[in-house]
Amino acid sequence: MSNKKDSKAPNGSDKMESIISLAKRRGFIFQGSEIYGGLAGTWDYGPLGVALKNNVKALWWKRFVSDRSDMFGVDAAILMNQNVWQASGHVSGFSDPLVECKKCHHRFRADQLEDAKKCPDCGGALGDVKQFNMMFKTSVGAVQDDSSVSYLRPETAQGMFVNFKNILDSLHPKLPFGMAQIGKAFRNEIAPRDFLFRAREFEQMEIEYLVKPAEWQKAFEHFVGEVHGFIKDVGLDEKDVHELEVPDGERAHYSKRTIDFEYDWPFGKKELYGLAYRTDFDLKQHSERSKVDLSYYDEETKERFIPHVIEPSFGLDRTILAILCGAYTEDELGGEGEKRVYLKLAPAVAPYKVAVFPLLRNKPQLVEKAQEVYRAVKKAIPAAAFDDNGNIGKRYRRQDEIGTPFCVTVDFDTIEKGAGVTVRDRDTGKQERVAEKDLIERLSRGL
Ligand code: GAP
Repeated sequence: MSNKKDSKAPNGSDKMESIISLAKRRGFIFQGSEIYGGLAGTWDYGPLGVALKNNVKALWWKRFVSDRSDMFGVDAAILMNQNVWQASGHVSGFSDPLVECKKCHHRFRADQLEDAKKCPDCGGALGDVKQFNMMFKTSVGAVQDDSSVSYLRPETAQGMFVNFKNILDSLHPKLPFGMAQIGKAFRNEIAPRDFLFRAREFEQMEIEYLVKPAEWQKAFEHFVGEVHGFIKDVGLDEKDVHELEVPDGERAHYSKRTIDFEYDWPFGKKELYGLAYRTDFDLKQHSERSKVDLSYYDEETKERFIPHVIEPSFGLDRTILAILCGAYTEDELGGEGEKRVYLKLAPAVAPYKVAVFPLLRNKPQLVEKAQEVYRAVKKAIPAAAFDDNGNIGKRYRRQDEIGTPFCVTVDFDTIEKGAGVTVRDRDTGKQERVAEKDLIERLSRGL
């Protein structure tokens, strides 16, 4: 039985503030370029954030690449030939509607305004809507002219399409098969907001799954299930995720069917992931522009055609934010009225799985024994931490806040009576004594 009392956790912008503050205080995520006042829409991951992010990437790669035999990993360059973005339609069409206030000159995304005529900051009149291309333009090489133009990629997808022929020629896979990539993407968002939700630099985890034209529906349905599977892998609550069939006229230019997987964020229900049927649009476009044949020859039917594509697209940073939002919990442990904050992270994504302490830091025998236990634990469970900072209560609070599922304490009974160690469960706060020889097995059972 738990001795935990429920209490109301904050919601909405209070909850976001609590999460942003915890993320900074505990070394998960910092504002980009903070000491210079920041750079809007950029975020830096600290040690705990990197560990969390690597765990998420590993789960994704395992489910979608290493556990399957029909997926091929790609890690393409971020800078690509400008023809890529001409062919994909991004140069002409990857834009958001921008309006500027005539009085204060603040700029807004026209489709996000409640009143299309009035500035939300100063009440002044808004100017005409202009299309603003979201790609970051740069120049490659010492000479700057039209031919040196390049762009930071706004999606990882194109890095896979342009390598389709390389994969066919080097590994000779048969349809259906997929290309998978995790990497940075950049968008000059007019209004970056809501912490990691809408940033200007972020990471995507994308798959371009190639099928025979008649088989796209089967693959689409398969990936609906796989997206839900991944949502469970990272410990998100299915109740917080909703499928939205994107209607005609609202889909991206390349898509014939799209499902948005929306999440109940503290700031409303908005997109977490997308699943799109991109048809043969991209490969056809690249074939035409590059004059390289990007068709596939089917040995069985003796037909040659351009494969069609199903694309599940996952925002890595949105996954991290959803995990933090879902895991952030406040309660009163022990019923003593003292508020506790903890991250109820799934063990698979938690930066540390276990922390080991000596009960007191000024007793050398306890510290020595705790270090011995720590070394043994770390051999079996590498994501283990040793903590002897502050008193034991503070250490529990710190580990709760970073979502460590278990704390192991070496006390006087451990060294004087050989009575084993205590193992404390993060969510219930309950402690049990465990013999040293059984410790790894006990921890592994809960991870
Ligand atoms: N290749 C398809 C594509 O890029 P998208 O819906 O524009 O589709 C895919 O983006 C995913 O990337 C989104 O579902 C979201 O998770 C993430 N994403 C998009 N823009 C983002 C931004 N500005 N900040 C953080 N994540 C973003």
